[in-house]
Order: sequence, then C-alpha cells, then structure tokens
Amino acid sequence: EKGGYRHFMLKEIHEQPRAIADTIAGRINEDKDRVLLHDLNLSDDQLAQFDRLYIVACGTSWHAGLVGKFLIEKLARLSVEVDIASEFRYRQPLVNERTLTLVISQSGETADTLAALRESHERGGKVVAICNVVESSIARESDGVIYTHAGPEIGVASTKAFTTQLVALFLFALHLGRVRTMLSSEQLREQIQALLTLPRKLEQALELDEQIESVARQFMHASDFLYLGRGNQYPIALEGALKLKEISYIHAEGYPAGEMKHGPIALIDENLPVVVVVPKNDTYEKVVSNMEEVRARGGQIISISDCDSSDLHSASDAVFAVPTISDDLMPVITSVPLQLLSYHIAVFKGTDVDQPRNLAKSVTVE
Ligand code: M6R
Repeated sequence: EKGGYRHFMLKEIHEQPRAIADTIAGRINEDKDRVLLHDLNLSDDQLAQFDRLYIVACGTSWHAGLVGKFLIEKLARLSVEVDIASEFRYRQPLVNERTLTLVISQSGETADTLAALRESHERGGKVVAICNVVESSIARESDGVIYTHAGPEIGVASTKAFTTQLVALFLFALHLGRVRTMLSSEQLREQIQALLTLPRKLEQALELDEQIESVARQFMHASDFLYLGRGNQYPIALEGALKLKEISYIHAEGYPAGEMKHGPIALIDENLPVVVVVPKNDTYEKVVSNMEEVRARGGQIISISDCDSSDLHSASDAVFAVPTISDDLMPVITSVPLQLLSYHIAVFKGTDVDQPRNLAKSVTVE
C-alpha cells in the first residue's frame, strides 16, 4: 500500500509530479491559451462582477491561500484578503452578493472552513471550493468546486494536497485574469506553457532527496529552526516551518526575510539553523543580503534556489539547487525540498511520521 516507500508521506511527496499532471489534465483548451474549469458553476459574467475575494482555510491550506493572493492579485488584478477560517467566521466579514469566497480544504470536512463557507452563504456571497475529496461536505455545500486530483492523502502532514492546491489556484487566477480582461491570449499561452513543464521540473527537484537526507542528518539535533522567504516564497517558509513542527516536534518559525531585523535577528547564533527560500527573482539580492546578516552572526544557512551563483554558495552551508521556472510557479518547486528536509529530520529523530502525536488528518471539531 505504501508502494515500496517507508512512509505514506514519502510516497505522497514522490507522487507530486503525477498528482500535478492529473490536476492540470483536461483543464487546458486545445490552443493552450485558455483554462477550463468545468465545475466552477459561475459564468464569465458572474465572475467578472465580483469586487471582493476572500480566501479562507486552515493550516497548510491557508498557506496555499497566501500564495493564491499573489497569483490572483497579479494575474487578475482583484484585491484578495486571506483569512484563517476560525478567525473569519467570528469577525463579521464584509461579505455581500458581490463577494466571492474561495475556501481551500484537502479533506473537505474541516469544521472551521465549513463554518466559514456557511457564514459567506448566509451573507449572500458565492463560494467556490478548492478541495481534494469528491463529494465532501465542503465540496457539496459550495456553489462551485475546483477539485485537486492529488488522490488520497494518508500522511497527516499535507504534501501533494498542498502543491496541487497551488496549481488549482494558478488555474483559477489565469481563468479570472482572462475573464477580467487582464491577461492577453499571448500571456495566457506563456503561463500555460510554463505550467505544462511543472511535472518534469518536480521530478528534477525530487532528485535532491539524497543530498537533503545528508543535510538533515547534520541538522537533526537543533531545537529551533527559522525559515525565511519573501513575496510568494514567504508562505512557503511558513509551510516549511509547519511541516517541521508537525512531524519532527522541533520548534520552527517562518518569517518574511525583510522582517528579520525587526526582532527575530536577536535569536541568531550557531545553534539556530536558518532555512532560506531564495529563487532568482526581483528580491533575490535583498534576500542574499539578509543571509549575509545571518552569517555575520554565526548562523548556519540552508538555502533553496534556482540560482547557482557564488554569492549564494558563500552565504550558505548547504544549497538545494532546484530547477528554474516562472516566478509564479516557483513556490510549487521550492516546496519539495522543504517537505523532504522535514521528512528526513523526522525519520532520524524516530517520530511517527505518518501519524504525529496530537494530530488528526481532518479536524472536524472546532
Ligand atoms: O483538510 P484541510 O485542508 O481543511 O486541513 C487543514 C489543516 O488541518 C491541514 O492542512 C493541517 O494543517 C495539516 N496537518 C498540515 O500538514
């Protein structure tokens, strides 16, 4: 049942190229310049009329939502607010008939996310779910659904559900961008071309497994980790930190790299490994200079990048070199080494990777 893998989590990490290919399949037109979302149940006219978009979710799905904000604001030019379901449901959100709420849930049964969905409906808004489980409560009660085709996810720590949520958000952002006339066919074609290379690039990222295992062995004794990222990589830093906490029981925090000097830099010493997600994009140099600040204080750095420059190597104790892709899709790629890092640290520590203490796969109570 684990397909030769030692844990479901490792199997599910390796299933990502396939899960992502399945999530894309059937959703691109023949000319490759349009996204088809059959179960959205909202016409282009209806979609074009929304003036407010909330993304609501819990845990890892909330992290996907944070990346979604970048995608939708950039590609569809609609302002997006992302909220944690247990907060949203109690704060009298500003929902009316011109509001779309996008709920994200792997299981489709998370109590707070379901309550947030109902809250949006009661206030007259429409709800679309990004969901992995067909006919789950959240899928059934939403006006429309974008299913992630990740297949069953057994490990409590979400992996392939997360990256397929990112792909679903990307598809939705392209669709909304076209409907709102913010994207030309040419731009759509370019984005879709990049998307279609994603499964292959993920295969390449998975080849880092052995290197990551040996770096994990080196760092497994640390009692705290800091994860840094900027822009659309900040949510990936949060997700990396959550993954480590959940399965290895090591305390970890995610921070926006530029915020480091406003407090967390006080924590840096030789005992605090810092994991930095630093792809070659507009803020690359800024993040490298954040890394240099960490190094100057004796901190140890593991970096994840598609850039093979000497400044990066000299600022890092280990570099996980990932393949390159468009900046909008890079968070899918950088997620993979972070999943593997937490997995191998947990295995070295001997924790119950698939069933970590105190956690349930789906949280059906408040
Ligand atoms: O099924 P959902 O996506 O609604 O679950 C939300 C969270 O409970 C879930 O993502 C949780 O944070 C995972 N254990 C993370 O790995």
